[in-house]
Amino acid sequence: PLTWFRNMRDTSPVTFNSDRNIWDVFKYEDVKTVFTRHEIFSSQGSENAEEPIDSSVLRTDPPKHRQLRMLVSQAFTPRVIEGLAPQISTVTQSLFDQAEAQGAVDALESIASPLPIVVIAEMLGVSLADRGRFKSWSDDLVSNDYDKYIQCQKEMSEYFSVIANERRREPQDDLISNLVHANIQGEQLSDIEIIGFCILLLVAGNETTTNLIASAMLCIDSLPDVREQLIADRTLIPSALEEVFRYCSPVQSMFRSVKQDTELRGQQLFAGQFVNMWIGSANHDDEVFEHPDMFNIHRNPNPHLGLGSGIHYCLGSQLARMEAKIVIEALLDRFPHFQRDRSHVLERANSTMMFSLTKLPILLK
Ligand code: HEM
Repeated sequence: PLTWFRNMRDTSPVTFNSDRNIWDVFKYEDVKTVFTRHEIFSSQGSENAEEPIDSSVLRTDPPKHRQLRMLVSQAFTPRVIEGLAPQISTVTQSLFDQAEAQGAVDALESIASPLPIVVIAEMLGVSLADRGRFKSWSDDLVSNDYDKYIQCQKEMSEYFSVIANERRREPQDDLISNLVHANIQGEQLSDIEIIGFCILLLVAGNETTTNLIASAMLCIDSLPDVREQLIADRTLIPSALEEVFRYCSPVQSMFRSVKQDTELRGQQLFAGQFVNMWIGSANHDDEVFEHPDMFNIHRNPNPHLGLGSGIHYCLGSQLARMEAKIVIEALLDRFPHFQRDRSHVLERANSTMMFSLTKLPILLK
């Protein structure tokens, strides 16, 4: 969609879709404005939404958001995340072992998709016996089937409230125990807020990280000089990953609702309308990024909006970066000359919100 994005930035950067009551916003500066002016652009879902996820950080505004974010941040600290590194390496190596035995695999199915799910399951303290259910909930949460979406949230709610109660009585070294016991001046998370957060982690953390990893593999495969530089110098991996966030942003767009009448780039927006921020377009805006359509692993600074901006800035950013770094390091160590299977024609999955491929067959030689 890069050509379409460029066209929209040049001709109609803030444009109203009256059928859907939505403003589409394409330029970096404007997307950033919508992200950061949370008193005007609200994250709250519709009034009658009542899934657990609607009471999570992602779907609340201040002051509620501030309180929730502080509480979940107590449980989801940089120390907790860094502590996961050895487990992430172990899972990564075993996924590559299985892939190596086959020689040719779909990188999505074999590596990029299972990794984040296993990591979140471990974080939450989901037992090995329940991993199968966990995987299918994770799939159902992002499926287009509304009944499945509702049903799996019901099942997850029951499942996690049992665990939350157990952890309340007997804390363990896991995220749910941290959430149950998080306390800021006497304020604690309610059961529904804990469940909403657990479900949010699956929604926010799985497919996004999967797509980041797959896109990174694809960029390395298609750009021989990038591959060479990364093989020669692994310290370039983090800045290469930042460029993946920018160049093929896993989250392409996000919504807000307009809370107060306001103006944006000369257009009048009214309360009750919606805004679709095109992150994917903002990250290719040549007013901010020099040669935006070039993949440059040395780009510095790289102020991409791939992880959002402002008060809702991605809480899992360090985890996502760490997972992707560990996978790419392992890939380059073990299979520096892996190739994409070029007999397969790449196809983008049917989603405007996510940048994802249907399949990424690779040959591990
Ligand atoms: C928020 C992207 C991985 C947890 C966000 C937002 C973006 C984003 C754009 C802002 C949403 C908004 O402003 O409405 C990504 C991408 C990822 C990733 C591209 C991977 C490549 C993760 C992971 C986790 C996570 C691994 C946790 C396990 C969250 C949470 C929020 C969030 C909890 C909500 C924060 C809040 O509302 O205060 N993410 N994310 N994300 N992300 Fe991520």
